Amino acid sequence: MNTLPINTIINGECVSEMKKLPDSCIDLIIADPPYNLSKGGEWKWDNSVELQGMGGNWNKVMQEWDNFTLESYMTFTKAWLTEAKRILKPTGSMWIFGTYHNMGVINVTCQMLGIEIINEVIWYKRNAFPNLAGRRLTASHETILWCNKGGKKREYFFDYEYSKDGDFSYDSLKSSGKQMRTVWDISNNKEKSELMYGKHPTQKPVRILKRMIKLASRENDIILTPFSGSGSECVAAKMTGRNFIGIELDNSYCEIARIRLAHIEENEDQLGQLSLNLYQGGIAK
Ligand SMILES: C[S@@+](CC[C@H](N)C(=O)[O-])C[C@H]1O[C@@H](n2cnc3c(N)ncnc32)[C@H](O)[C@@H]1O
Repeated sequence: MNTLPINTIINGECVSEMKKLPDSCIDLIIADPPYNLSKGGEWKWDNSVELQGMGGNWNKVMQEWDNFTLESYMTFTKAWLTEAKRILKPTGSMWIFGTYHNMGVINVTCQMLGIEIINEVIWYKRNAFPNLAGRRLTASHETILWCNKGGKKREYFFDYEYSKDGDFSYDSLKSSGKQMRTVWDISNNKEKSELMYGKHPTQKPVRILKRMIKLASRENDIILTPFSGSGSECVAAKMTGRNFIGIELDNSYCEIARIRLAHIEENEDQLGQLSLNLYQGGIAK
């Protein structure tokens, strides 16, 4: 492949699609993989499904893409992380979302593949839905790993100034001018604009994605999201002046993502210029 499919949502399977990309071509990966929560039960949009040993107030969706045996989940995790590591630049890094249901597998697989975990972030959701059954604590956080490709040198980009001095006034745990810590207080509520073209059952708020992008990439960088769903990561990338590549199995989600992206005005001119800067024989970066 001569050029990267930048600023595109690809309707496809992420391992196969990542295999088509050259080594070390991506600046930042944001992965929001299946959490493997859909173990039996009926498909529901609400929080009323109880799972054996996997309960809590997760926004569960009984969908084919989220239903693995443990063994097949491990195999799948190894396959996509292997490709993610290969396509990541040495200067790049990767954010991975998860919960206790799948984060153990992801953490161990990263270690097996020599992917270095830089930080584990706790995303505290202060507006978490109460536990209706009253049989366990109210689940009110997700885990996010920030990783680099591994190797002797740590070349990944980190915008330390932004992490200290950025505007995080919405986060009660972040003191202005102080180092950012690993617990982030960010509401899971979405803006009207994030939901007006369609919804995804596990849609991430753009606000947290913008934070991740600004911490770990520069303007004009290329951000790949292997499980792009309704395109939140790509929307956040476009809003912050980065390029994106989204990969998603389900074409109906791809369509939502494309419509969302078409309605973002910010940085449009800049993105047009970026596309021109990618030369035909390789990657001009
Ligand atoms: C947790 S959701 C991502 C939601 C996304 N962050 C958003 O805000 O809309 C995971 C998505 O990955 C997709 N998916 C599952 N397996 C996949 C695979 N092997 N390749 C590409 N997409 C996949 C699912 O269809 C689902 O939309």
